[in-house]
Amino acid sequence: MSPRSALNLDKESFLARHWQRKPLFIPSAIAHFKPPVSSHQLAGLALEEHVESRIIEHRDGSWQLHHGPFTNADFKRDTAWTLLVQAVDHYLPDVAALRQLVDFLPQWRTDDVMVSYAVDGGSVGPHYDNYDVFLLQGEGERLWKLGQFCDASAPLLPHEELRILSLFESEKEFLLRPGDMLYVPPGTAHWGVARGEGTTFSIGFRAPRVNDMVSRWADQLLERLDPDLFYHDANIESVTRPGEIRPRDLERALAQVQAALDQEMDNHWFGELVTEPRYTPASDEDDLAEARALLEEGVAYVALSPEAKLAWQQEAGGIAVFANGDARQFPPEVLPFLIQLCGEWLLQGDLLAHALDDAGADALLNYLLEAGCIYVE
Ligand code: SIN
Ligand code: CO
Repeated sequence: MSPRSALNLDKESFLARHWQRKPLFIPSAIAHFKPPVSSHQLAGLALEEHVESRIIEHRDGSWQLHHGPFTNADFKRDTAWTLLVQAVDHYLPDVAALRQLVDFLPQWRTDDVMVSYAVDGGSVGPHYDNYDVFLLQGEGERLWKLGQFCDASAPLLPHEELRILSLFESEKEFLLRPGDMLYVPPGTAHWGVARGEGTTFSIGFRAPRVNDMVSRWADQLLERLDPDLFYHDANIESVTRPGEIRPRDLERALAQVQAALDQEMDNHWFGELVTEPRYTPASDEDDLAEARALLEEGVAYVALSPEAKLAWQQEAGGIAVFANGDARQFPPEVLPFLIQLCGEWLLQGDLLAHALDDAGADALLNYLLEAGCIYVE
């Protein structure tokens, strides 16, 4: 069964009642779930320099945070502790495949998959997140308490980096066993405590800040605006009170700003913003040359890189493709290849042969290769 159809959830009812609104406990969300990473593998990742990891422990009545990379000695503690490893999906394709469980939601809304390992009693403390998350229990059990709705005014314990709530009003509790899932919308206080040792997969989402949307939209608009266009006021009314900015002057200014805002724009700023990678993709000229040569020879398959942030939008003249924060336009013929790549994460057989024969699709593959969104084998 592909991960896509493995999720035991009524998607329409979830979208209508829960997404961005209300938590949902999904018992046996995945039948016979076999966690795609073991605690041992997770600990191994946390030893590596390039992997972002943290340990949170509760010691002597206070929460403490340690940043990786760790050594094996760090995993021998006499407190209740949790190891959190970010973007495990970038390193393990089977973990990346968990994102397909939720691809009834726009793919560009998904973030990386974080995996945590906790010893008995381990917890990261009561907190809320600004983003939606599906918590999927791997090994062992974790008791999750859900609490009040929070926003930036919620009181926090004093800590430079951790955002732990100083007040948690428990409203509901769920004991998650392997394969169970809990959806937590942004702002809902939650607090998970391990029952025995175990792992939890956080399939996280991203949402751009409205601040950033305004700034990127304005940047794109400013690139297009004629810098030699000035405020104009033909037919001006004569001044009776010197120094005054009159309501009519303001109206005129706002109307001119509005006319500038109403300009036709391709809105690529949005796709560029939502596909911006959190971690800069590694690029190696030799690997790129080798991959290009393989493409020309007619490779066996082209696969989506687990860390790729790829999206597209249909436009009057063709398709705009957004790859790791960059945008480029392609002819409409590339659409079936993009749908296949974004849906199946793979291009092979006849479809790949057609892509390599088609000038637009061939240019698309080269572009995705350069952007670090695909690899070839
Ligand atoms: C955890 O896995 O313990 C933390 C995940 C979360 O609360 O978002
Ligand atoms: Co959380």
